[in-house]
Amino acid sequence: MEKQIRRIGVLTSGGDAPGMNAAVRAVVRAAGSKGIECIGIRRGWNGLINNDFVRMDTSSVSHIINKGGTLLYTARSEEFRQVSGQDKALSTCRLLGLDAIIAIGGDGTFRGALELSRRAAELNYTLTVAGIPATIDNDIGCSHYTIGFDTACNTAIECIDKLRDTMQSHERCSVVEVMGRHAGYLALHVGLSVGATAVLIPERKLDFERDVVEKIRRARLAGTTHYMVVIAEGVGGAMEISQRIKDEIGIDPRVTVLGHIQRGGSPSAQDRVTASRMGYAAVKAITEGAGNCIVATKSGQLVTLEMEEALKMKKDFDMGGYQILEALTNNCGRL
Ligand code: F6P
Repeated sequence: MEKQIRRIGVLTSGGDAPGMNAAVRAVVRAAGSKGIECIGIRRGWNGLINNDFVRMDTSSVSHIINKGGTLLYTARSEEFRQVSGQDKALSTCRLLGLDAIIAIGGDGTFRGALELSRRAAELNYTLTVAGIPATIDNDIGCSHYTIGFDTACNTAIECIDKLRDTMQSHERCSVVEVMGRHAGYLALHVGLSVGATAVLIPERKLDFERDVVEKIRRARLAGTTHYMVVIAEGVGGAMEISQRIKDEIGIDPRVTVLGHIQRGGSPSAQDRVTASRMGYAAVKAITEGAGNCIVATKSGQLVTLEMEEALKMKKDFDMGGYQILEALTNNCGRL
């Protein structure tokens, strides 16, 4: 017989992402609507290890849907990777009487959740875990979309639009590094949105002559005198790229690393709505006996995936988007 879910722990883990608060709110309120209690675990998995928690009710999540960051704090826990850390975490789960945990974060967060559930089973304790994908990198294999991505894109776009003003006035080249960890989703979307001269992503092996020099050359021949080169952090070396531009074609770029500013700010409508839908769906899934699962999106629709299977999934990078970018820049015409 399925174990009845009476109390859920909710946590945020890994790098924060705008919309995490909206997801916490949705979990707490959806659970409350079913008569299920929620405990907020603070500072990611460290909170379970260190007994760091807060009781939550519907009013404790009032006025947070519009806030960036995470009111539960977040962390990346080394200790939780060890069985000893997981055992400490399970002791807290037992102490608090948690039947389930909803973890909001990236794939590392979900792998930790699955290991915890397995370890619990070894100790004859049933702990259901559910994952909600939230990272500005959009790099989770099982989900087409992750909470925070849209807001981070918008933040980067706003910054680059400002940079463009000064680059245009001074007829300069800007090399802008955006986040994304090992993935180029953020760089591609931002590059498309700002009409970048060139976009460098880790999914495409760099050919400096083809991807940078030729792009700037064509833009110049089309009459442009300022250039925007967007580079994903996963490519690495914004300074080196800039230096090579200077050395090879005599243009002296200015380098901007947007950095953590991309992780902050009030979540966009897309992130608030996705977080609300995913939080609601995660509570529904675990209370309806879905078992360990991840709530994901597939072609814009919400899907609930078995966690172990979901963690094996990979998504194809949007190379079609890259082709569109190439076709739409002001350097695409034949010389
Ligand atoms: O995963 C989110 C992210 O912001 C990545 O884009 C980036 O590589 C990393 O986290 C930065 O991590 P930290 O906050 O530890 O500097």
